[in-house]
Amino acid sequence: MMGRNLDHDEGWLFLFLFLIISVSFSQSQGCPPRCDCTAKLKAVSCFGKRLAALPDGIPMDTKILDLRGNKLRWVEHGDLLPFPRLEKLDLSDNVISVLEPNAFSSLQNLQALSLRGNQLKLVPMGAFSGLTNLTSLDLSGNKIVILLDFTFQDLKHLRNLEVGDNDLVYISNKAFLGLVGLRELTIERCNLTSISSQSLSYLHNLVSLRLRYLSISALEDQNFRKLGSLRGLEIDHWPFLEYISPHCLQGLNLSWLAITHTNITSVPTSALRSLTHLTSLNLSYNPIPVLESWALRDLIRLKELHLVSTKLAVVQPYALGGLRQIHLLNLSSNNLVTLEEAAFQSVNTLETLRLDGNPLACDCRLLWILQRRKTLNFDGASPVCMTPVEVQQRALNAFSDSALFDHFTCQKPKIRNRKLQQVSAREGQVVSFICKAEGEPTPVVFWISPQRRRITTKSNGRLTVLPEGTLEIRYAQVTDSGTYICIASNAGGNDTYFATLTVSGLPLDAALMANRTYYVGDLNDTNLNDTRVFLKFTLDLKTILISTAMGCIMFLGVVLFCFILLFVWSRGRGQHKNNFSVEYSFRKVDGPAASGGQGGARKFNMKMI
Ligand SMILES: *[C@@H]1O[C@H](CO)[C@@H](O)[C@H](O)[C@H]1NC(C)=O
Ligand SMILES: *[C@@H]1O[C@H](CO)[C@@H](O)[C@H](O)[C@H]1NC(C)=O
Ligand SMILES: *[C@@H]1O[C@H](CO)[C@@H](O)[C@H](O)[C@H]1NC(C)=O
Ligand SMILES: *[C@@H]1O[C@H](CO)[C@@H](O)[C@H](O)[C@H]1NC(C)=O
Ligand SMILES: *[C@@H]1O[C@H](CO)[C@@H](O)[C@H](O)[C@H]1NC(C)=O
Ligand SMILES: *[C@@H]1O[C@H](CO)[C@@H](O)[C@H](O)[C@H]1NC(C)=O
Ligand SMILES: *[C@@H]1O[C@H](CO)[C@@H](O)[C@H](O)[C@H]1NC(C)=O
Ligand SMILES: *[C@@H]1O[C@H](CO)[C@@H](O)[C@H](O)[C@H]1NC(C)=O
Ligand SMILES: *[C@@H]1O[C@H](CO)[C@@H](O)[C@H](O)[C@H]1NC(C)=O
Ligand SMILES: *[C@@H]1O[C@H](CO)[C@@H](O)[C@H](O)[C@H]1NC(C)=O
Repeated sequence: MMGRNLDHDEGWLFLFLFLIISVSFSQSQGCPPRCDCTAKLKAVSCFGKRLAALPDGIPMDTKILDLRGNKLRWVEHGDLLPFPRLEKLDLSDNVISVLEPNAFSSLQNLQALSLRGNQLKLVPMGAFSGLTNLTSLDLSGNKIVILLDFTFQDLKHLRNLEVGDNDLVYISNKAFLGLVGLRELTIERCNLTSISSQSLSYLHNLVSLRLRYLSISALEDQNFRKLGSLRGLEIDHWPFLEYISPHCLQGLNLSWLAITHTNITSVPTSALRSLTHLTSLNLSYNPIPVLESWALRDLIRLKELHLVSTKLAVVQPYALGGLRQIHLLNLSSNNLVTLEEAAFQSVNTLETLRLDGNPLACDCRLLWILQRRKTLNFDGASPVCMTPVEVQQRALNAFSDSALFDHFTCQKPKIRNRKLQQVSAREGQVVSFICKAEGEPTPVVFWISPQRRRITTKSNGRLTVLPEGTLEIRYAQVTDSGTYICIASNAGGNDTYFATLTVSGLPLDAALMANRTYYVGDLNDTNLNDTRVFLKFTLDLKTILISTAMGCIMFLGVVLFCFILLFVWSRGRGQHKNNFSVEYSFRKVDGPAASGGQGGARKFNMKMI
């Protein structure tokens, strides 16, 4: 469109149109052909005009120059010399591959520069020199492979830097030196394999850091040290991220944190420990199946927690323990069957709850939500029952008060087949006690040992509970004797049941040995490696048998030798006695061989010749 002269009122109208749909008009003093100019704003727009070089006729006092979508190939020092008043320069979506040193150094007033979507491979040192008033720089969508030392050193007022979507492989340690005013930094879609804490350490005033679409697999200790002003950190789309070091967030004082679309499988509790001013945490789209008890205990000021689409199946009791100010909980699109009130420190602070997209069981565990269904904000997506079938697909906020207690009920556990189990076993045997319980929801069964230890399906010592509730004791010990209590428990209550076990020892000496092996191995029930203990036990039993037998032979040998000596001695003395009798009482020797001889006194008679 060619330039036209317009009167004042029309000018204002078109000014607004320009802002919205880029319709424009030119000023009287001139406008480059094919470009659109806005006199009031001192703006020149040459958007998408296939220009291969700066057009002639750009007014000297231009403040805003839009050269997006052309065919510019480079920017030289002289090109922009005539326009010292420029405040905004948009060179995005050209084919610029070369920036000369001092290319922009005449633009003392430049505040925003965009080089997005060009072909830059390297930003030479000094390319941005002199741009002391620049506040925003966009270098994303280029082919930059490395950021060199001192690249941005003059940009002391830069507040916002975008270097995403490059082939960035390395950020030199001093690349960000001088960016003392930088408040926002985005690095995305790069080939970086680590974050250099040294390079980030110059960004003393950085407030938000967004690191997206990176192939980094670990957050290491002190990755973000010296970023004392940082308030927000986003780590998004790091598909390889699996490890978050406990100290990687040390030194940060964040108010929001997002770690999303990564491969972490649990809440990084110890890394979060220092973030006591955190108010918003987003851990959505990570494979986190269990929210463990006290996982977020140190986040005392947390107000918002987002765990959307994490395949979350279990929220343990006190999972939200410590969160005294939680307002908003977004657990949308997970595998939760329930969310118990016991998960919260206090449910009274909660205002907004998203629990939709979960296979919820509408029993007494969700009663607390039902009771609050008129005050709690479901953010337009009420939770929906999956079971029981009578209420399938019904939204929680659609229940009437009267229906309340017809459905949201639980059935207390009942242990079936309560006949007394009294078992006697020998040491080393396997003993099991059955405890089958039914109830709604399915009860959890655990046992209490005579030593008052809790044995669950997760116990992995000699004593464990099988999935149907059966207690299994392997390699029974005398000390296992006593009364065992089975407890079946669900949200409706619990049921108990008793069983007794008597373990008798092996024959005395073997039992002694077993006892010794058990203690010598320094093992206890929590770390017992059953196979090894058992092997050691049998080995030692054999050893003792053999050594006992060897001992007897040796002993007999010594006795015989003594007799021969005595005999020789008596012959030498000339004494003549026909009968010579020795009485010897066996010392009690450890081992079954000895016990076979009843341990009593024995007589050895020998006829002298
Ligand atoms: C930066 O811009 C301000 C006006 O916004 C101006 O007064 C100042 O001179 C500029 N600084 C430089 C170094 O040009
Ligand atoms: C960066 O990664 C992309 C995709 O993985 C690849 O195509 C490109 O060649 C890489 N660039 C460099 C410089 O390694
Ligand atoms: C994420 O973790 C799972 C299981 O540890 C693994 O199979 C998968 O390959 C990982 N994904 C990536 C992108 O590393
Ligand atoms: C951390 O940030 C909060 C504001 O988010 C501020 O009140 C507090 O003083 C800061 N603490 C430290 C140690 O800087
Ligand atoms: C949490 O992160 C996901 C994924 O990046 C995003 O879509 C969502 O908007 C974030 N939620 C909030 C409240 O920031
Ligand atoms: C909860 O997450 C869903 C899914 O990402 C999103 O659409 C919704 O806006 C979130 N709600 C709140 C209150 O953050
Ligand atoms: C069993 O239920 C009673 C009352 O219903 C409760 O006080 C007790 O703590 C429960 N015991 C266990 C182990 O759950
Ligand atoms: C096994 O050792 C324990 C502790 O040392 C001891 O109290 C117990 O009497 C021993 N048992 C036998 C059969 O010697
Ligand atoms: C059992 O062994 C573990 C690991 O060696 C130890 O931490 C624990 O204190 C021991 N328990 C007892 C009761 O000795
Ligand atoms: C027990 O020890 C054996 C032999 O050292 C080893 O092969 C086995 O993996 C261990 N089992 C457990 C559960 O630690």
